[in-house]
Amino acid sequence: MIHVKTPAEIQLMRESCRIVKETLRFVERHIQAGMTTKEVDELVYRYITSCGATPSSLGYCGYPASSCVSVNEVVVHGIPSDRVLVDGDIVSVDITAEKNGFNGDAARTFLIGNVSKEKRELVEVTKECFFKAVEGLKAGVPLYDIGYTVQTYAESHGYGVVRALVGHGIGREMHEDPSVPNYGKKGTGIRLKAGMTICIEPMINMGTHKVNFSREDGWTVTTADGKPSAHYENTVLITDDGVEILTL
Ligand code: MF3
Ligand code: CO
Ligand code: CO
Repeated sequence: MIHVKTPAEIQLMRESCRIVKETLRFVERHIQAGMTTKEVDELVYRYITSCGATPSSLGYCGYPASSCVSVNEVVVHGIPSDRVLVDGDIVSVDITAEKNGFNGDAARTFLIGNVSKEKRELVEVTKECFFKAVEGLKAGVPLYDIGYTVQTYAESHGYGVVRALVGHGIGREMHEDPSVPNYGKKGTGIRLKAGMTICIEPMINMGTHKVNFSREDGWTVTTADGKPSAHYENTVLITDDGVEILTL
């Protein structure tokens, strides 16, 4: 069931999303080589709680941290650990915060020091996938046009589009209907309505689209070929004449 938000609910979504956006900016200012991914998570926890919000991922289905910090071949759901960030890494930081009963969710892939041209391009194209997908998006557009756009653009660069994980609706719950895949057939799926809030989150691999789910920790998703992966996500409000990107 898709929850179309009322104007009052949208106002609360804006506030949660503003906190997520600011947290990511705070991380961007401090993340650097030599830090552990756990230290990144501590920054996230500190910032979110200082805003009077709660990190939604903490305790979600047993997830042990306030953020997902996914380095290089880790696609998403990297559990913060003692892994040290080194020059040349690409690191996706994915954050969900809840305040007044509503969630905001966004992710960025940060560059650590001197990153190879190949990896920088992957990060750039992943971000572009998002912006191509929201171009022309508004009430009435078929849902799977989003995935069609992401997939077409990513594959035109020779990249693999992750299928095993998808974007999602968001609101009182971190994950609501509908699922928002990063692949699909143009002109299909439900028609978007004004007041829907969805997370569009391309997860793009330099090589194969295939991924593995960790048997050890139950969370970490890695590329099947060990090549790098990038992630870019925003919470998006659908309106009658376009979109409002709430976490930007
Ligand atoms: N923020 C993630 C998403 O984009 C979900 C986090 S999973 C959790 O959907 F386990 F870390 F909470
Ligand atoms: Co997220
Ligand atoms: Co999400």
